[in-house]
Amino acid sequence: MTPHTIQTQPIDGQKPGTSGLRKKTRVFMEPNFLENYVQSIFDGIGGVAGKSLVLGGDGRFFNQTASQTILRMAAANGAAKVIVGTNALLSTPAASHLIRKRGTDGGLILSASHNPGGPEEDFGLKYNTPNGGPAPEGVTDKIFAVTKTIGSYKTLDTADVDLSTPGSLALGDMEIEVVDPVSDYAALMRELFDFEAISALFAGGFRMQFDAMHAVTGPYATAILEGALGAAPGSVVNGIPSKDFGGGHPDPNPIWAKSLVKTMMGPDAPDFGAASDGDGDRNMIMGRGIYVTPSDSLAVLAAHAHLAPGYAGGLKGVARSMPTSGAVDRVAEARGIECFETPTGWKFFGNLLDAGRATLCGEESAGTGSDHVREKDGLWAVLLWLNILAVTGKSVSQMMSDHWAEFGRNYYSRHDYEDVESDKANALFDGLRDKLPSLPGQTFGPLTVESADEFAYDDPVDGSHSAAQGLRIGFAGGGRVVFRLSGTGTVGATLRVYLETVETDKARMHRDAQEALADIIAAADEIAGIKAHTGRDAPNVIT
Ligand code: G6P
Ligand code: ZN
Repeated sequence: MTPHTIQTQPIDGQKPGTSGLRKKTRVFMEPNFLENYVQSIFDGIGGVAGKSLVLGGDGRFFNQTASQTILRMAAANGAAKVIVGTNALLSTPAASHLIRKRGTDGGLILSASHNPGGPEEDFGLKYNTPNGGPAPEGVTDKIFAVTKTIGSYKTLDTADVDLSTPGSLALGDMEIEVVDPVSDYAALMRELFDFEAISALFAGGFRMQFDAMHAVTGPYATAILEGALGAAPGSVVNGIPSKDFGGGHPDPNPIWAKSLVKTMMGPDAPDFGAASDGDGDRNMIMGRGIYVTPSDSLAVLAAHAHLAPGYAGGLKGVARSMPTSGAVDRVAEARGIECFETPTGWKFFGNLLDAGRATLCGEESAGTGSDHVREKDGLWAVLLWLNILAVTGKSVSQMMSDHWAEFGRNYYSRHDYEDVESDKANALFDGLRDKLPSLPGQTFGPLTVESADEFAYDDPVDGSHSAAQGLRIGFAGGGRVVFRLSGTGTVGATLRVYLETVETDKARMHRDAQEALADIIAAADEIAGIKAHTGRDAPNVIT
C-alpha cells in the first residue's frame, strides 16, 4: 500500500470563510477539489506525519465519500491515527470535545452547518486546531496560501473502510478508531448539568419538543433527553439524520423551524421548545407562546449559569460578537464580570476561553457555548436552559419577564437581504463607509446619531488585529444599527442589518420587536439606502 502522488494544479476559490471552506456540493465533487483542499490543510499545518486527527461530519450528502477520501489521504501523508465517528458522523461540538479529550493534533469537520444539503446544495470542510476550536486566521491564511501553489497530493489506492461499527481498523500504517459519536459527549453533559434535577422536572410532567431538523443532533438528543433524562418518548422530532435534512434548511430560526414555532404558539404547546442546526452547534429556544432571541438567551444563561454544577463557581467573564445585542453586557455589569465584544465568528472566542477570561460566549446567529468545548453547542444550551428552569421552577415566559424587569430589555431583530448581486451590496457598503464620519449629530426621524464607525478588533490575548468587521451606528439612548456582509453564503452577497433598541420602562417590556424597532428600521434604510441599492422592498428573512 504505497502512497501515490497525484499531480494537480491550484483551483481558484479555496479561500476559507467565517467557518472553513463552503461551496456547492457539486463544486466539492469536481475532480481534485476536495483533494487539493485536504492536502492544503495538511501542508498548511506543517504536515500530518505521525499526528492524530479527529474526523466526522453532520451526515449530509457527500459526507461519507469525502470521509473516505480524507482517510486515504491522511494515511498516505503518514498520519498515525484518525478517530472517526461511526458512519463518519460527529456533531461539531462533539468533534471539538473529542479533539480536546484525546489531545489530538486537531480535526476535520465536514459540514455546511445550517445550509441545506444534497447534490445541488451545500457542503463544507473545516480544520479545527488542537484546542478544539476553528482555526484562527493565521492558520487559515497558511492553508489558503498552499491552495494557490499546490502541485500534487498524496493518497492510497484502497477500498473504502467500514465505518459502521465502533472498533479499531488499519489503513496502511495508520490506525482508524471508530467511536460512538454520542457517548463521550453525553458523559461531558452529565458532568456539567444536574441530571437529577432535570429528570425530576420531566417526571413531574414537564413537556418539551426538540426539533432535530433531520440533522446530526437527533441521536444526541434522543440519547440524552429521552434516554438519560426521561423526557417523554416523541419529545425529539425529526430525529433521524438524513442526507438532505428532509429537503429543508436545518437552520433553527423562526423561519426554517416553522413547525416548532407553530407547536409552541398553539393551544397545546409543551412547556419548552428547542431546535438545533445541521451540525448541532446552533440552537433556538422557545417557551409556551414565546420565542427567545439568541441575544436574550445568552443574557439569561449568563445570569443563571451558576445554578448548574459545571458553573457553580460563577463565570470568569462573558463574550459576545459585535452584532449581538448588549443584553448580556447588562448582566455582566450587574455581576461585576468582564464582557468582551468580538468580531462575528466563533473562532474569535477561542483565545478568551483558552486564557480563562470568558466562560460563556454567544452570538445573535443562534450560537451559545462555554469553555467546555471550543465551538458553540446547541444541545448544551438546551440542557443549561432545562437545568435553570428545573432549579428555579419558572416557565420560560416568567423567566423572560423577570429578566427584563431586572436588567431592562434590548429589543432586537436581524433583517437579511439574501442573494443580492455582489456589486450592489459592495456599492451600498462602500457608500455607507464613506458617510460614517459625517453621521454623528445628524437626526433621522426621532433619532440622533451619536457614533458611527467600522468595527475592528484587537485580540486582548494575542494582540492580533482584525479590521473591517462591520459598520455600526449608535443612536442617543442606546439604539443601534449594524451592517455586515455575510461570510458564510455560497452565492451572491447577503446583507445583514442588525437592529437594536434599549427599553428600561417596565411598562413597555412586552411589545412586538418590529414595532419597538420601527424608528431604527426606518433610520437604517434612510442612512444606507437599502431599498435604493438592492431594489428590495423588504428583507427575505427576519429573525
Ligand atoms: C458561522 C460561525 C458563527 C458566525 C456565523 C456568521 O455560523 O460559526 O460563529 O456567527 O457563521 O455567519 P455570517 O453568515 O453572518 O457571516
Ligand atoms: Zn452549525
